[in-house]
Amino acid sequence: MVEPCDARCLTRTALASALQEARTRTLGLYAACAQALGPAMPVPQRDELNPPLWELGHIGWFADWWIARHPERHRGTAADPQAPRRPARQARRGLDADALYDSSQVPHARRWQLALPDLDHTLADLQASLDETLHWLDQADDTDPGLYFFRLALFHEDMHAEAAVHMAQTLGIGLGPWAPQAAAEPASGGRDGAELTLDATTVTLGWQGPGFAFDNELGPHTVHLPALRIDAAPVSWARFLPFVAAGGYHEPLWWTPAGWDWRCRTAARQPRFLRPHGDGWACQQQGQWVALQPWQPAVHLNAHEAQAWCRWAGRRLPTEAEWMAAACHRDWQGMTVWEWTASRFEPFPGFQPHPYRDYSAPWFDGRPVLKGASAATSPRLRHRAYRNFYTPERNDILAGFRSAAA
Ligand SMILES: [Fe+2]
Repeated sequence: MVEPCDARCLTRTALASALQEARTRTLGLYAACAQALGPAMPVPQRDELNPPLWELGHIGWFADWWIARHPERHRGTAADPQAPRRPARQARRGLDADALYDSSQVPHARRWQLALPDLDHTLADLQASLDETLHWLDQADDTDPGLYFFRLALFHEDMHAEAAVHMAQTLGIGLGPWAPQAAAEPASGGRDGAELTLDATTVTLGWQGPGFAFDNELGPHTVHLPALRIDAAPVSWARFLPFVAAGGYHEPLWWTPAGWDWRCRTAARQPRFLRPHGDGWACQQQGQWVALQPWQPAVHLNAHEAQAWCRWAGRRLPTEAEWMAAACHRDWQGMTVWEWTASRFEPFPGFQPHPYRDYSAPWFDGRPVLKGASAATSPRLRHRAYRNFYTPERNDILAGFRSAAA
């Protein structure tokens, strides 16, 4: 798949601006959280959350680890991830930043037990980290290897900004100007449930363009597809909610065993963040309950709910390859929600992990691929080659789906 060069090809000067822009968003999002939660930003210990002070410290630590402290930063994907590092700046205050913020070494549950620096120190560390990153960027070669870790740190910060949006939704925090912008109502000619018809085709999966790529995207290979009918746009609430009204959350017939297990464990009776409102539904947005717009893409659905709707509707989730083929269609609409697919997140042929070893390889565990992007996704991260890989029970994320003819 060849895409035009975009954020993945940002040059040195543009990268400097992008890194500062990403930081402005990070600080804006967490300022909103601090306003709602207080400067210590305590959050309950849950699988889908991280302590906000840990997230902030981790963003700075990640950039330091791969750039300021990394003697092989100039080698890009050929760099030795184990190259010895100098101590982090926090060592001057008697703190071991690696023991606090290395996501590969600090188990998730332990992050709530750490003696983390307070907000003022954390923000000062973040600023110092950005200053050093920009200093090293100024010295870097304007080449793909020379800029690799700067682009990685940029996209990493963008991903954590999106996670902050998920956290705010879970906690019911309003984000003010940093809230994701809702999709625009489709033009009056748009027909809900419209399908694309694709002839049998061959699609190439695997990135082969210039610039930055995540390791799990690499490995071009072709996949042959039979003829296909697939939704032109993600399934809307108008299409999803009749499943709820028909008692779909009470009928095990529609659910996979894992899905029904989730449904029973959580006692879910309807999509998360929805409640009945008059003759319709209200949804929670920015900590407020607002009337649901039926034309909007159904969102905050997990993979089990997407699959159950499909079985009820006589449809199925598309594979990753089908999604990619459809995304090239003239009338395709998307990138409004993450979309669950029927494909497992697996390495493409020839997979070689990049220096950040834990980006992909630990997660080849059977979880599904999501394609697309959500309203909370940074424009820099939006790319049809991007493969997301949340666990199937996650419904705090801005995920929905589109369906294919069974
Ligand atoms: Fe991270």
